[in-house]
Amino acid sequence: MEKIIQEVLDSNRKYTNYGQVASYIPELKKAKRDDLGICIIDKDNNVYKAGNCDTKFTIQSVSKTIVLAMALMDNEWQYVFSKVGMEPSGDPFNSIMKLETNDTKKPCNPMINAGAIVTTSLIKGSTLEEREERMLKFFRRMARNENIGINYDVYKSEKMTGDRNRAMAYLLKNDGFIDGDVDEVLELYFKQCSIEIDAVDLARIGVNLASYGVDIANGERIISESVSRMVKTFMITCGMYDASGEFAIKVGIPAKSGVGGGIMASVPNKMGIGVYGPALDKKGNSIAGVKVLQDLSQRMNLNIF
Ligand code: DON
Repeated sequence: MEKIIQEVLDSNRKYTNYGQVASYIPELKKAKRDDLGICIIDKDNNVYKAGNCDTKFTIQSVSKTIVLAMALMDNEWQYVFSKVGMEPSGDPFNSIMKLETNDTKKPCNPMINAGAIVTTSLIKGSTLEEREERMLKFFRRMARNENIGINYDVYKSEKMTGDRNRAMAYLLKNDGFIDGDVDEVLELYFKQCSIEIDAVDLARIGVNLASYGVDIANGERIISESVSRMVKTFMITCGMYDASGEFAIKVGIPAKSGVGGGIMASVPNKMGIGVYGPALDKKGNSIAGVKVLQDLSQRMNLNIF
């Protein structure tokens, strides 16, 4: 396995020359575009690494999967889906358009920014501090890493430039999809996006989803089987934004990308894969990361279809 990962890394390194590191959140511009890291953790808890697996970056939209799991554990699923839909949007991740044109005005799904802001608002806790603490605890549990925390420089940068998210959140509040204080919801959303992780953390989250919510390291259940199925289903249908269809055809693995350059992939019953490559295509997906997953899927026969 180590050999395959190294070969896949070497043969795809050239793709780090394509695309751009995200710049709309200024702090993200500091990433090194030629970094590339792959980590696989299989269901027997073997860890395989190649390239920049220790490099820290922010989780960004990959957080949407974990917060969705939390929202589904904190609330009845029927209630969650009364506030956010189950369908791919076909639009960019930060699109505001369908919040007006959809019949219901409900955000299409929890993997786009509008839907994720709603799932963030469904995290339970009597104060913002309590919600933040619970959220961080859950991320640490999913990644089996007590050291996970927030990158405050990225958080400040998100907050300074997050007016589009702010606009969506106020619209969602106006239309009854968010209860409570909008600024507090946004605060938590900016923080969840700014959580700092590495490719190993992503692989660990991926394998815990692949094992239907059971921590493969100690057999403890973290999330229910049905929640883990829902999260992976959203990863397949919406995880790579408006490139999810193409990714499902070419790679065939549930995956979620983030503009920090990470992709978390989860191969049911087999393994979790974390990939890091910060140069992105126009849709916000890591170019080298997608190529790596395509090769891994082919070479190890991982396509779930
Ligand atoms: O809210 C935002 O725009 C970012 N914090 C997260 C977006 C993101 O990662 C989209 N990913 N491809």
